[in-house]
Amino acid sequence: MPSPSFKYPYKTTNFVLGVIGIVFAPISIMEPDYNLNELLEYVKEQRAVDFSAYRMSTIKRRLNIRLSAAGSPDYAAYYRYVTENPAELDDLIDSLTIKVSCFFRNPFVFEALHEFVIPELLDALNGDELRIWCAGCARGEEPYSIAILLKELTRKEDICLRKIFIIGSDIDREALDDAENGLYSAESLSEIKKGYLDRYFTFNNGVYRLNEEIISMVTFAYHDVTTASTPKEGVFSDYHMILCRNVLIYFERGLYEKVLKGLSGFILKDGYLVMGEAEHMPLELMKGFDETLARTKIFRKK
Ligand SMILES: C[S@@+](CC[C@H](N)C(=O)[O-])C[C@H]1O[C@@H](n2cnc3c(N)ncnc32)[C@H](O)[C@@H]1O
Repeated sequence: MPSPSFKYPYKTTNFVLGVIGIVFAPISIMEPDYNLNELLEYVKEQRAVDFSAYRMSTIKRRLNIRLSAAGSPDYAAYYRYVTENPAELDDLIDSLTIKVSCFFRNPFVFEALHEFVIPELLDALNGDELRIWCAGCARGEEPYSIAILLKELTRKEDICLRKIFIIGSDIDREALDDAENGLYSAESLSEIKKGYLDRYFTFNNGVYRLNEEIISMVTFAYHDVTTASTPKEGVFSDYHMILCRNVLIYFERGLYEKVLKGLSGFILKDGYLVMGEAEHMPLELMKGFDETLARTKIFRKK
């Protein structure tokens, strides 16, 4: 199989529009915030996603992409455009959610999961089901990386894969559809080990297809992590490990801490919370956790 060195133009259009968006930026930046609030309120009404507590600098930058695409000079004009063209809401959500990800992103974190964390969780199971939730899973790269690790670890052992439940959730429905299809660009696979690439993917027409066995190990669900709940598809609300990486980074501090506190409550004792490299655990919450290995952002619940 060729090693994934070429770049597949997944969202080239978004990139081009982004550049145009920067040119438009000065116009919308000068606009009063109530026009922006009205637009975000409309998104909340229509799609039940509240972007108002996301970092405004990021939201404004991403919105400019849609303003350019729609030919709208400001938020007020764009708001009218969205209300007259309901299909635009999908593109808007697509722009506001940043789905940069890849298989085995930050490989040292996955090394630690493979060497220490998952073997320990498997050992302690006592016949129970192992339950793992990836909140904000983009196109499935992260839950599938976990599924590959579990497949590797259980290949040699007598653990039935039916006793493993992995769920990936996101607020971007298109990303979830892509996840279920299991087709990936070379760019998404730049961090994967060659052995895993050869064992779990087939390459055809410039695209890598994940094998069905791994696809079948993951359930995908629409879920908004800010709602202080777990995905209903997961049935129960307790998990041995929750990964919420590179999602909180887009939230304002209040929401960041609220979501993190909520997630902590869904982790079983001695279970794990895995955060993104640039994310931190607030001091107050840290009292309930130990960092497993320095700088991995893998925290064990006391
Ligand atoms: C940068 S990606 C991170 C993907 C993966 N966790 C990783 O670290 O590679 C952030 C993801 O969070 C999702 N997201 C943003 N807000 C969310 C929310 N309120 N609930 C669930 N997912 C959300 C976005 O749609 C996007 O897919």
